Amino acid sequence: MSGPNDPAEVAAPELLDAAGREAEKAFAEAADLAELAAVRAAHLGDRSPVLLARRAIGGLPAEVRSAAGRRVNEALATIQAWYEARHAELTRLRDSVALRAEAVDVTLPWDRRPVGARHPLTTVMERMTDVFVAMGYDVAEGPEVETEWHNFDALNFKRDHPARSMMDTFFLEPESAGLVLRTHTSPVQVRAMLERGAPPIYVVCPGKVFRTDELDATHTPVFHQIEGLVVDEGITMAHLKGTLDHLAEVMFGAGLRARWRPSYFPFTEPSAEFDVECFACRGGSVGNPDRPCRTCRSEGWIEWGGCGMVNPRVLTACGIDAERYSGFAFGMGVERAVQFRHGVDDMRDLVEGDVRFTLPFGSEV
Ligand code: PHE
Repeated sequence: MSGPNDPAEVAAPELLDAAGREAEKAFAEAADLAELAAVRAAHLGDRSPVLLARRAIGGLPAEVRSAAGRRVNEALATIQAWYEARHAELTRLRDSVALRAEAVDVTLPWDRRPVGARHPLTTVMERMTDVFVAMGYDVAEGPEVETEWHNFDALNFKRDHPARSMMDTFFLEPESAGLVLRTHTSPVQVRAMLERGAPPIYVVCPGKVFRTDELDATHTPVFHQIEGLVVDEGITMAHLKGTLDHLAEVMFGAGLRARWRPSYFPFTEPSAEFDVECFACRGGSVGNPDRPCRTCRSEGWIEWGGCGMVNPRVLTACGIDAERYSGFAFGMGVERAVQFRHGVDDMRDLVEGDVRFTLPFGSEV
């Protein structure tokens, strides 16, 4: 009779095969990693049949020792490989069960209110206003439904001035009431001068204005302006220039140049329109087809607003001594500032009120 303790039989192929089959079966039946760990010792531990066989090999006769050693090592490697394969399989199983159990259903309705965001028009308008408040200006506001007198007459618009025509202005019914939706923030200048009376007057007037434009990528019938007015003794155009340069630097970056072009407004004399150097290309795109600039359309400058020295007729209409005092005024579009400051190409994005547009600006303070 031969048996496992018989030195001649310790590495018999049938015994190793049987040990292998049992190990494979035990590993396969282990339902999870804990069960696998529990059966490991019986098949790969020091007292498992294959390791006992390996220990006994030294006592075998020399002529069968090396063949027996090879068989034992092969059997051991096979059992080891089964063990590792089952271990990997059970690990994957455990992970997938965990992933499923811990999954969050992102489609479930939630009960928190979605947050809104301040509109960039509001934040940019406040930022511009703050620049003037820091220089000692007061903030002045006026009505959006304005009298023709404040909107036009007091500002030296003649009766036949084209801006009065139905093309630009929303008139309120009945026309005889002489009421319009203000076409600019300049009537607030008039009100500020009438209310305050004696200079010095330093006011900034942010607000909504209306013109009969169709809404498209570059126009909107309702938009925003910021107007500034200074009336004091000895005010010159140099003060105006320094003020606008300072605003451009704060809004668009240090060292940005401003450019003035001669223009005409009935309420300022002389008058100019002012452009700011394109903050995106700083003029680098001009005459340089390899580096086109979307922000300024490769012109190097961006039109921003109008300005000038207050026409003495306006001062007189508002009861201010035009011999003693002089002043400057300027006004610019807030939409334009938002558009080029934040690269908003389409005006409609600013007016549609979609919170997905406003949210990315929400952190601006
Ligand atoms: N009110 C002018 C406009 O709407 C801008 C402006 C304001 C120009 C003040 C000069 C001085 O176009």
